[in-house]
Amino acid sequence: MMDFYVMTLFPEMIEAWTDGSIIGRAKKNGLISVNAVNIRDYTENKHQRVDDYPYGGGAGMVMQAQPVFDCWKAVCGMTGKRAERPRTIYLSPQGKQLTQEMALSLAKEEELILLCGHYEGIDERALELIGAEEVSIGDYVLTGGELPALVLIDCVARLIPGVLGGDESALIESFHDNLLEYPQYTRPEVYEGLSVPEILLSGHHANVEKWRRRQSIERTLLRRPDLIGEAVLSKKEQRFLWELKERLSKEEDEANENGECEAKACEGLEEEKQTEAEAKFQTEG
Ligand code: ADE
Repeated sequence: MMDFYVMTLFPEMIEAWTDGSIIGRAKKNGLISVNAVNIRDYTENKHQRVDDYPYGGGAGMVMQAQPVFDCWKAVCGMTGKRAERPRTIYLSPQGKQLTQEMALSLAKEEELILLCGHYEGIDERALELIGAEEVSIGDYVLTGGELPALVLIDCVARLIPGVLGGDESALIESFHDNLLEYPQYTRPEVYEGLSVPEILLSGHHANVEKWRRRQSIERTLLRRPDLIGEAVLSKKEQRFLWELKERLSKEEDEANENGECEAKACEGLEEEKQTEAEAKFQTEG
């Protein structure tokens, strides 16, 4: 059982999404709980305000330290069962980037507090007092931390045993062994003239497995070459990768040569055109 506590100004966003689909089923089955806590409920401001202008000027508003810190203390009281200071994550584009490896580490926690910012961010003193880890879901800026918190919940929760149908399905897929997933096919055998690869219809499990691994290796090399160096490969697979690299670099050389030939041919044509034009100019002149 893993408990997520989400500190937010928009609890309805968190509730609406986590009630559906696989995460909703995991909640119903008691494998996870998702508790959205409204930061606004903790403001001491009589107009229920939670933000103010930034000191030093500048655009936008900043979330005040008081409601955020008081809300966090209250949430710690709600969890409190296990860790004295539950792991708290502030979703921010300035944080460490969320990866599958980080998700695996987070999935070992029994409870996680997720803090969602809004406007131009949160008063730094609240973050200091809370001692939150900052986590980003990518190099782009969103309007708030709710979508990143949901992304984190989704990728962590699916790693918890029982959340996905078969336990293996969380393992055999993209990023396992640092490889991308192989292509998948389902019925019909032919669709719009495109056939399912023969090998998948052969019923020969060992060959299917080998083909899938090779597809994963090729995809990773072509689409995410930054990952291929970290891939966990057998000796045979290493050789396959080496041959694949050789083949691709040969193809690239050939393509470049053809490109050069085409460029030369073009140059030749241009020269021809120019001499023709010059000749024409001279005769006309
Ligand atoms: N809040 C706004 N943008 C974000 C991002 N890219 N990751 C995490 N939190 C954010």
